[in-house]
Amino acid sequence: MSNESKNIEAPLAIVTGAARGIGAAIAQRLSSAGYAVAIWDFNGDGAAATAAELTASGRRAVSAQVDVADESQVKAATQAAEAAFGSPCLLVNNAGIRHREPLETLARASWDREIATNLTGPFVCTQILGGRMLAAGKGAIVNIASMSGSYGQAMRGAYTPSKAGIIGLTSLTAVEWGGRGIRCNAISPGMISTPAHVEAYSNEELKTAREAMVPLGRIGDGAEIADVVAFLASDAARYINGANIPVDGGVTKALLALMPVPTANGEIETTLAQLDLRS
Ligand SMILES: NC(=O)c1ccc[n+]([C@@H]2O[C@H](COP(=O)([O-])OP(=O)(O)OC[C@H]3O[C@@H](n4cnc5c(N)ncnc54)[C@H](O)[C@@H]3O)[C@@H](O)[C@H]2O)c1
Repeated sequence: MSNESKNIEAPLAIVTGAARGIGAAIAQRLSSAGYAVAIWDFNGDGAAATAAELTASGRRAVSAQVDVADESQVKAATQAAEAAFGSPCLLVNNAGIRHREPLETLARASWDREIATNLTGPFVCTQILGGRMLAAGKGAIVNIASMSGSYGQAMRGAYTPSKAGIIGLTSLTAVEWGGRGIRCNAISPGMISTPAHVEAYSNEELKTAREAMVPLGRIGDGAEIADVVAFLASDAARYINGANIPVDGGVTKALLALMPVPTANGEIETTLAQLDLRS
């Protein structure tokens, strides 16, 4: 635990996987919205660095090295966060990993690791932190799923099943706990530039090819996911429960616009590319 500044009046938000990427952007956004933030990550140094950035500007944050799938670590980090800031009112299950392997040779160990982080971890955190929220009769949970949870992503090991699972966990939590004051929703990000994708987005050709799939014409960034988390956590979203919101620039609605068609001069192009040429 590090970077503590005690203030039991601050609403406490827990963000998992917040050492970097989307999780760090969520921690920063919630912090500017007035939350005290507990930053949990497998990478303890990275979590401490995110927390240090916040506390350096006078914000309230603690960090902990936590494997989200390890119940005893989650319990210990929960107690430490509560000691600093009181009861949690928001949990963001963001920590996630991806693995590249085809289905026919997918190793059982890879499957287990991915399911543990992406699905069992959110279950463990939901049960432990949700228990606190149930006792208080209020709270919100936001699960970071993926477009891969609704559409099969080839060569991605257990990623698609794990993300489909977290969408199911979202529905279950929303239905079981909605009547007891806890809303639970999911966000399915599309292609978002984060340290996990440095290789893809520093390759200009690959980046341009991916951008060409997105109706908004660009890759997203973590702040664009964080804004939706802040909205879902807020009272403005008080009647939203059990939703899975795509934040993907429209890419998952673009299937038919990606169908190749002949152009006037006889070339083959997608409709999306043709629309782009006209603008
Ligand atoms: N970036 C994208 O394009 C994209 C798209 C769809 C969904 N997502 C989802 O958004 C989330 C964040 O993705 P990102 O791109 O920022 O990834 P990232 O790899 O940059 O960050 C993930 C963080 O989670 C941490 N983590 C991994 N396993 C953990 C564990 N067992 N316990 C605690 N922390 C753990 C890592 O240390 C890392 O800091 C993930 O759930 C991912 O599946 C990302």
